[in-house]
Amino acid sequence: MISTVRVKVPGKVNLYLAVGRREEDGYHQLATIFQAVDVYEDVTAERHDSLALTMTGRGAHLPVDESNLAIRAARLLAAEAGIAPAARLRIHKRVPVAGGMAGGSADAAGTLLALDRLWGLRLEAAELQRLGAALGADVPFTLMGGTAMGTGRGDVLTPMIARGSFTWLLLTQSEGLSTPAVFGAWDRSGVETPPPAVSRTFARALAEGDTGFVARNARNDLARVALALHPGARAAMEACALLGLPAIVSGSGPTVAAFVPEDEDVDALLAYFEASGVAESCLVARGPVPGAHVIDES
Ligand code: C5P
Repeated sequence: MISTVRVKVPGKVNLYLAVGRREEDGYHQLATIFQAVDVYEDVTAERHDSLALTMTGRGAHLPVDESNLAIRAARLLAAEAGIAPAARLRIHKRVPVAGGMAGGSADAAGTLLALDRLWGLRLEAAELQRLGAALGADVPFTLMGGTAMGTGRGDVLTPMIARGSFTWLLLTQSEGLSTPAVFGAWDRSGVETPPPAVSRTFARALAEGDTGFVARNARNDLARVALALHPGARAAMEACALLGLPAIVSGSGPTVAAFVPEDEDVDALLAYFEASGVAESCLVARGPVPGAHVIDES
């Protein structure tokens, strides 16, 4: 019988994020390209007689009650399997909280995968994806990883061919942004919303490994409103512009991902941004990387 399962789950950046109309359920139609990056949540599940959660790292201050997506994931999976949600979960968080990098979704994805193994359920990947989508729009992608196009709410995924590797400098902020608040500001900004689609030229550059073109032409419809709401993220974007580095707001922000071309000295850039004071922390991240996976079970 398995008594401990350890799972690693990546955070993500959005290389492309086109927003369409708001549906009756409050969700917006999206055409997005996710890329999983090597900033990981560690999720450990152990046998226990009830459901318990502890969080460390960047998540040390987060509530571990029913508002935590990992708790909701555990309850959903148990209900689906018709068993009691009994396990001790430990999450070591590295993905910024409320940063636009799907950290909460990654915790839910890791919980689904770890408990699927701990409880011996062995659900199909498609089944875990379906449960993930019920928890949040980004959960299916953090399960899948790599580079993928997301349509619908961002939860209908098509893997994409993406050659080459991207190096990002992630500029995080101490104050996060609420995703519903950013979408709300987007709605109030009153822009025309044609059906969202990924540009063909962009998808081709991704397939051909033209990482520079992809970074320079990255699109995020939410960037304008996210930056208007967050002076810190604005300062980070301005610092990137000053250096001539292509930069994107990740998802609903406020994390800014600066693209580091191959001929740039990443350590020098890291030192520069750490000294500049425009970010709470600077992380070097590479993508794409695989989605949620088991690293140890005993
Ligand atoms: O699914 P998730 O809980 O991550 O979404 C958080 C919020 O972000 C939603 O309640 C909604 O306000 C907004 N959202 C949206 N359209 C999407 C995804 C998220 O409006 N496609």
